Amino acid sequence: MNRTDQRDDRANAEDTRFGVGVEGDGEGDGRAGRPADTFRQLFGGAPDGVWAAPGRVNLIGEHTDYNDGFALPIALPQTTLLAARARTDGLLRLHSAQGDHRITELTVAGLAPGAVTGWAAYPAGVVWALTEAGHPVGGADLHFDSAVPVGAGLSSSAALECAVAVAYDALYGLELTGPELARTAQRAENAFVGVPCGIMDQMASVCCTAGAALHLDARTPEHHGQVPFDLRGQGLRLLVIDTRVSHDLGDGAYAALRAGCERAAALLGLPALRDLPAEGLPGALRALPGELVPLVRHVVTENARVTEAVSRLREGDAAALGPILAEGHASLRDDYRVSCPETDLAAAAAQDAGALGARMTGGGFGGSVIALVRAGAEDAVGGAVTAAFEAAGYRAPRILSAVPAAGARRLWPSPAPPSPESPS
Ligand code: GLA
Repeated sequence: MNRTDQRDDRANAEDTRFGVGVEGDGEGDGRAGRPADTFRQLFGGAPDGVWAAPGRVNLIGEHTDYNDGFALPIALPQTTLLAARARTDGLLRLHSAQGDHRITELTVAGLAPGAVTGWAAYPAGVVWALTEAGHPVGGADLHFDSAVPVGAGLSSSAALECAVAVAYDALYGLELTGPELARTAQRAENAFVGVPCGIMDQMASVCCTAGAALHLDARTPEHHGQVPFDLRGQGLRLLVIDTRVSHDLGDGAYAALRAGCERAAALLGLPALRDLPAEGLPGALRALPGELVPLVRHVVTENARVTEAVSRLREGDAAALGPILAEGHASLRDDYRVSCPETDLAAAAAQDAGALGARMTGGGFGGSVIALVRAGAEDAVGGAVTAAFEAAGYRAPRILSAVPAAGARRLWPSPAPPSPESPS
């Protein structure tokens, strides 16, 4: 079981769903209506609630999370909606509007790694991870309806997991913190689905806030910060360019890269590569076997780029992210080697057409590129990337304009407003 399975299961739905909700369309009871109606038709009766969990793009800080390092993701307006109702008989029934229209029926007691395949492993894994952690949870009826593009490197898997995490938290009164929910979702993906991802995608999906980027410290996710990212106010736009390629080597290569980083840290006598400061890099590179040098150089310089990006954003200079994005892409292409011809071309064409900076985002081997552009330059940059893809004989990319959106939340029933007596 890997992410590719999920992509395959859901690929058919992708074309019609892409682009829904661009630019922060309205959320709330209105959007909750459709999954709630479908839930009634599928399971009979109303759901207990409807939750939403977003996909993400990472501004900078790639392949740093599993090195205990830093990242700077934003949540996308595109979310996975989940209409859910608790059950008392231990049954777990799952349905996806993007699936094959069958209801998958499982028992909570029967959940075990390897026992569930396909997209259902992601939500089932979260329920398993909650029981493993000793939380008193039972079954549920769950209907998903996702607008997060699948296979585009925008964390559709994390959105699925985190929707379940926040819904179960409410249905079973767990009162877990955001980082605890994110860790639970990550554990589901690591131990139940079998993908050795870090915690960035789940933290982004749960803990991002509208109008801000999440400053993630993967060693202590509890200490994350919100960094204002006012694209509109600064006359900027962030394009997300889905290259529509997803190279199969992704999953095995990701695990190999992670293992390489862990080996390098062990050889240097460090808990993780995060503990190697930039000043120590030249000496460390001399001490390491050649094949580990580019990996370590990427991780150390990438962590520094996150720190730099956070400083620029806090100074109110989002345009200054441009060169940082460009450096990040070069490092992923030349040192970490997780880019591919399509992401390289998209980033180069965007920059040539006037983007302030562009880079691949996410794990790599395909997926999406982000491009920071001045307002009004969207069409020129998007058109140049599309033309470059056509000239290279690639499928046309899909391009949307992203705004930093909110993390996972309940849409319905609307959370009660604070009463006049409650402290503000
Ligand atoms: C994937 C993983 C994340 C992170 C990125 C690379 O998205 O799920 O944990 O490692 O790749 O930054």
